[in-house]
This record gives sequence, structure tokens and C-alpha cells, in this order.
Amino acid sequence: MPDSSPLAEQIRLYQQRAEQMLDRYLTLADPGTPRLLEAMRYSTLGGGKRLRPVLVYCTGAALGAPLASLDAAAASVELIHAYSLIHDDLPAMDDDDLRRGRPTCHKAYDEGTAVLAGDALQALAFAVLAEDTQAQISAEARLLAMRLLAHGIGTAGMAGGQAIDLEAVGRQLSLAELEGMHRRKTGALITTSVLLGAVCANTLQGPLLDALRVYGDELGLAFQIQDDILDVTGDTTTIGKQAGADAALNKPTYPALLGLAGAQQRAADSRDRAIAAVAALGQRADTLIALAHYVVDRSH
Ligand code: IPE
Ligand code: IPE
Ligand code: MG
Ligand code: MG
Ligand code: MG
Repeated sequence: MPDSSPLAEQIRLYQQRAEQMLDRYLTLADPGTPRLLEAMRYSTLGGGKRLRPVLVYCTGAALGAPLASLDAAAASVELIHAYSLIHDDLPAMDDDDLRRGRPTCHKAYDEGTAVLAGDALQALAFAVLAEDTQAQISAEARLLAMRLLAHGIGTAGMAGGQAIDLEAVGRQLSLAELEGMHRRKTGALITTSVLLGAVCANTLQGPLLDALRVYGDELGLAFQIQDDILDVTGDTTTIGKQAGADAALNKPTYPALLGLAGAQQRAADSRDRAIAAVAALGQRADTLIALAHYVVDRSH
């Protein structure tokens, strides 16, 4: 986060905590081969905005959960995110060479190792959620968290959205189709991160959970629209990935469909809907609201 306000400081602390947890969970007794674990650590540690774990911490803390009950969920969503980026960059998908300012996993290692590093990160995410003994959460909450995560990254969520993305290349999508794709491929894991924070705070159902789901859905859409925008307006050094990659691959994006100003307006609309959804939380929603602004104001 760019500024030095107390909220930004709070969010920085959550980012650092996520970093420590990831390092801890990526210290494995049985790494298969050292090279596999090295590839997993290479693609997970030391980079990235950590938005998804920060959402787990902000949501859980807003609902009164101790941070220790949120660590496993925070790590699990970022492990999933790291896996999704490794596979997203593969030649069979977006064929990208640069990620977070460094060679992508398959460039630094090899394609087979990149596939397996993604697979193992996904498995580790569920193991972390299932085996966590620090979290003072009920078996029911733990099971719900695992079900939500599975739903968020499967055919109804991330993997389904990525499949639509691949099929859509070179084809004109309607705005409704594009929105559906973005909500799945990126929005679903962001919503899941918010919901996991709530579930670890023992909020398993009810109007508060519904409001947080709307917040996550709108934040997630705004986030991917801004990602599309930065592909057009950002430079490669700042965004840490090849600028203009979407246009080069003829990807369906918001700027391609609505123009830059139209895309910015649509991201701002979703941001505002996200903020409105958590209004009932009052001051407890301050970090969530700060994140909603950050998502559309960010430059990388
Ligand atoms: C990039 O995600 C991929 C999308 C889902 C848009 P982020 O922009 O959160 O990537 P990092 O983790 O900060 O590198
Ligand atoms: C990635 O979307 C979505 C997932 C990884 C699930 P993008 O393909 O736009 O992400 P970047 O721009 O490569 O980070
Ligand atoms: Mg992609
Ligand atoms: Mg990509
Ligand atoms: Mg992108």
C-alpha cells in the first residue's frame, strides 16, 4: 500500500505475516525432490501484493478473530494463487516469460516442473487448511472453509474461468460473458478469501456473510478489470510482467470491449458497490474499504 496512514501500516503488517506463514508452510519434510520444492518457493515467496491473504486477515480481524486463527486460511489462498499464476504463464496458456519482475516458473525451471509445482501448491493449500492445529476453529468451520476453497477454484470458479479465457481468445465476447469470465477466473478466489476470513471468525452463515460475499464479488471484478487496464497503461518494469500481453494474444478484456475510460468507469462502479456492501460493518470495515480503493488506484 502506498501511503503511511495507520490503515496502510495495518495492511503492511498483514502482508509481512502472510510472507512468514508462506515460508513456514513451504518448509517441507518430504519435498519429492529439492528441485520441486525450490520451484514452489521460487514462485510463492518474495514477491506479490498478497491481496488474498490480506483479505483473509482484514475480514477475520474485522469480525474479531485472533490473527493466529487466520494464518492457515491466509496461507492457503496465496498458495492457490501462486499455483494459478504458474499454470497461467505456461506456454499452453498465456505463454508469459516474466512474472513479478523475474522469469516465470517454467523459464527458471522447466515446463514439467512448473506443472508439478502448481499441482503440489494446490495440494499443500488444502493440507494446510485441514491440518492446522493453531486455529481455534470448529471442525464444521474447517470443513466449510475447505468446501468454499474447492468451489472457488474448480469449474464454477477459477479453473472454469480460465477455461472460458482460453476458449475466448480471438472471439468477441459480450459484456455479460466477459464479466462472467472475470468473476470466475479471478473474482471467485478473491470472494473465497473474504469468506474464509469470516468462516475462521466463526461466521458460517447469515446476512453478514452474504454482505461480505457481495463485497468480495465486486472487489474481485474490479481487481481483474484493473489488471486488464494495467496491461494497457502500465509499463513492464512497474507491473513486473510483459505489458501489452493481452492485446498481443487477442485476449478478451474490458479495455478491448469498452475502451479505457469505459473500463475505468466499470471498475469504479464495482469498487463503490463493494464499499456499499460492507457499510453496515461501520468502522470495522475500514481496512476493507481502504483495500477497495487500493484495488482500482494501484499501478501494479
Ligand atoms: C495477478 O494477480 C493475476 C490475476 C488474478 C489478475 P495479482 O495482481 O494479485 O498478482 P501478484 O500476486 O500481486 O503478483
Ligand atoms: C489470470 O488472469 C487469472 C488467474 C491466474 C486465475 P491474467 O492472465 O490476466 O493474469 P496476469 O495478467 O497474467 O497476471
Ligand atoms: Mg490468463
Ligand atoms: Mg496471464
Ligand atoms: Mg492480466
